[in-house]
Amino acid sequence: MNNSPIGVFDSGLGGLTAVKEMLSILPTEDIIYFGDTGRVPYGSKSVDTIKKYAMQDIAFLKSKGVKMIVAACGTVSSVADEYLKNQDIPFTGVVEPTCISAMKSTKNGKIGVIGTSATISSHSYKRIITSQKDFEVFEQDCPLFVPLVESGITDKDDELVKLTIHRYLKELKDCDVDTLILGCTHYPILKEAIQNEMGSDVTLIDSGRETAIYTKNLLSENGLLSDKNAEGTAEFFVSDTPHNFEKIAGLFLGRDMKHSIKRIDIEQY
Ligand code: DGL
Repeated sequence: MNNSPIGVFDSGLGGLTAVKEMLSILPTEDIIYFGDTGRVPYGSKSVDTIKKYAMQDIAFLKSKGVKMIVAACGTVSSVADEYLKNQDIPFTGVVEPTCISAMKSTKNGKIGVIGTSATISSHSYKRIITSQKDFEVFEQDCPLFVPLVESGITDKDDELVKLTIHRYLKELKDCDVDTLILGCTHYPILKEAIQNEMGSDVTLIDSGRETAIYTKNLLSENGLLSDKNAEGTAEFFVSDTPHNFEKIAGLFLGRDMKHSIKRIDIEQY
């Protein structure tokens, strides 16, 4: 079981921000990634639809014999964590690990959270933080960020990127936050542009990185860390044409993705 792969899923490219960190934090683990590119975005869908999609994503990963599931999607974790967590194998979303890191990072107790509309309406990050600490949490949904990333428009100097980021973040800037949670796994792909808008004094908390660390700890607690010496493999599956995914994922992960992406019919699961 220890040498079975870790299953990671997201609505599209966003979960790759967790995969990128896993490749360096868990270098001997095999990874199976599913990006639901045929049904992205999840963040503007109803809770029932998001739960149904997430169950199918998990069923697909389980059919591949994974030893653990990572919902590398802020939206799924925000609206369906409780519903999904009773699996027969370890499961984690991204919200809890990210909150822990943000609470450690803030000095002035003012934390911003950005995410999809479904994530922000669920108040998932705010609820966890304010139940543990007397901190102020300011929330903002940024519904155009996911389509920008999925379309490959991510350059920090691109006028459209700068304008969109300014439009969503200008009010948060006035709230004096010293820590900003990137509450959607797509957002670290826009990290440089977000940092430029917020200023260098604001610490950005990347849910991908925190989740990779949390995944390592959870595997270790369950005695499931790989005991291989060789470098792990990564396989990628999508539910629509792999072309755009291949281009952006390759750039983002710094590897040639040409032969490693397969298309599947997620509705079968
Ligand atoms: N990466 C997903 C998240 O973390 C994007 C959700 C969407 O598809 O809207 O929320």
